[in-house]
Amino acid sequence: MISFSTTQIVDYLKSKDPAIHHFLLEKADRYRQENRGRAVYFRGLIEYSNICSQNCFYCGLRRDNLFIKRYHLDREEIISLAMEAHNNGYQSICLQSGQVSSSKEIDLVAEVVATIKELSGKKGQGLGITLSLGELSYQQYQQLWNAGAHRYLLRIETSNPVLFQKIHPPEQSFSRRLECLQALREIGYQVGTGVMIGFPGQSYEDLAYDLQFFREKDIDMLGMGPYIPHPDVPLADEKKEYISDVFGTSIKMLALARIMMPDINMVASTALQSIHPDGLKMGLKAGANIVMPILTPEKNRQDYMLYANKKHSAFETLQQDIKAAGYEPTLWQWGDSPHYFKRKREQAKGE
Ligand code: 5AD
Repeated sequence: MISFSTTQIVDYLKSKDPAIHHFLLEKADRYRQENRGRAVYFRGLIEYSNICSQNCFYCGLRRDNLFIKRYHLDREEIISLAMEAHNNGYQSICLQSGQVSSSKEIDLVAEVVATIKELSGKKGQGLGITLSLGELSYQQYQQLWNAGAHRYLLRIETSNPVLFQKIHPPEQSFSRRLECLQALREIGYQVGTGVMIGFPGQSYEDLAYDLQFFREKDIDMLGMGPYIPHPDVPLADEKKEYISDVFGTSIKMLALARIMMPDINMVASTALQSIHPDGLKMGLKAGANIVMPILTPEKNRQDYMLYANKKHSAFETLQQDIKAAGYEPTLWQWGDSPHYFKRKREQAKGE
């Protein structure tokens, strides 16, 4: 495992030298192959609701965006999407929504999770379930864990607390986000976090600290993607951009993350695929080993626009593209992050 100093990371990120770019990608691919092989695992993404109580300045789902039609799939629809995914070879799904922390909502999700586990468990180990529902209470995370979810994604968005506050309203806090990540870890989830890359006000130094933050927090999964402006949110009017090549910087961030954290799972995000035709291929070459095809029904997809021009690729196309990039689309396997098991073993030894 390699450590880089902050200045070294900043130099790499700022560099326009193709040799540096090549060096990072080559090293990341080698580390990935040694630690995670050529396999690319799928998480079928079911965006079951766009209702959100939060008001993040960058996100199209924010509470005050009145231009989108709000939807919530009913339990039968979510369960049938999950089971259809399972029949098509998915071994994991991710349930994602805007943040709604009422007990009614969490009871519903917990029941859905338990039902999917039971139905899919009839064939082998069943579907792995990742959740991405935002900030909830410790008890709610525990309830969802007890129902059978075992991975959770909660992006920190930026590890700089001052910058965090600039892109969120006062009632949302950095410390609360950290508490949630800690709670998830304590309960036993495989924990994923991540940041947006290239939003107004963010510097190369901030990105270097983000990578160090992921290492320090000992995370199991990473989801980073370029920031893409949404026309109807406050951050769209902000022009203080310090990062010049958002796509190239995102690729280098992935490569550095893979080099610094060889055994984690890392996604080639939809945002990365949305801003560049070769986003998927480049993301994989930079060390990503997870892809999250969108399984949300077509009728709802245009209402889950976190940012403008969100891309959707069919499962078959994704599999072909993964093969064409030289990797192995891997069905019927959970593909958990070995990092998680390693840290659990170490924790057990220390107790
Ligand atoms: N650009 C890129 N990513 C975004 N997200 C939300 N809005 C945007 C945007 N404008 C990401 C956030 C969030 C995840 C669900 O989507 O990082 O955690």
